[in-house]
Amino acid sequence: MMRSEASRHREGRGQVWMDVDDGLPRVLGHCFEQFARPSGLLGRLAGHLMAKLDDDDRWLVGLLDVQPADRVLEVGCGPGVAVALLAERATAGLVVGLDPSEVMIRQAARRNRAAVRAGRAELRLGMDSALPYPDGHFTKACTIHSLYFWPSLPDGLRELHRALAPGGQLVVAVRMRRAGAGRFDPAYFGYTERQLGDLVAALESIGFGEVTRRRWEQVGRIGRQTMEAILARR
Ligand SMILES: C[S@@+](CC[C@H](N)C(=O)[O-])C[C@H]1O[C@@H](n2cnc3c(N)ncnc32)[C@H](O)[C@@H]1O
Repeated sequence: MMRSEASRHREGRGQVWMDVDDGLPRVLGHCFEQFARPSGLLGRLAGHLMAKLDDDDRWLVGLLDVQPADRVLEVGCGPGVAVALLAERATAGLVVGLDPSEVMIRQAARRNRAAVRAGRAELRLGMDSALPYPDGHFTKACTIHSLYFWPSLPDGLRELHRALAPGGQLVVAVRMRRAGAGRFDPAYFGYTERQLGDLVAALESIGFGEVTRRRWEQVGRIGRQTMEAILARR
């Protein structure tokens, strides 16, 4: 049987996405695609929604302990909320937000207009697997709610390792999947404990050290969510 265009398209996406969305009604699948690679009007709406749910970004940024001179990279920056929070802290450094979605880069650039003009923030089109920066360019790097969509986790993590300076800090944050969560609950789409274990193992095998976990049980606007962050040092 011929597979649908959407299904073949999803094969280029991360394993987490593939694990859970098969069999979704087409219209629902199309809406969820907007969180994987926002485009068009629906993508713009998804960006506004993501920007409103900023608690996770605040948590992420708190874990990074950004200093004024830091050079920080966020991969999969979406509408640029974390970039703005990071730029408030890296006042003498640089914050780069990278995303493959033109719609997201436009929203992020608008949100961070002043910092971009001042040369303290950069928003660029790009993907995890080919970071357009030289080796050791960043002192810190982070990503949140983006790993689910990366085509190859090891390739993306290797790129982050390459782009970080020795001693550089990485924070990778994901939502955990909750058994029994309904299809409209973001906890339906998330990491399992096994996938989190694979992430830790991949970081260690690539050469990251001091790998630790932080868990955050959040009760917010979208209900009960469990977030996990993995901290690691280059
Ligand atoms: C659910 S959104 C999260 C955005 C933002 N980090 C946040 O938490 O609000 C996922 C983002 O990851 C981006 N993305 C998807 N695949 C990616 C890849 N391979 N490399 C980098 N970013 C990617 C999408 O374009 C999208 O903006």
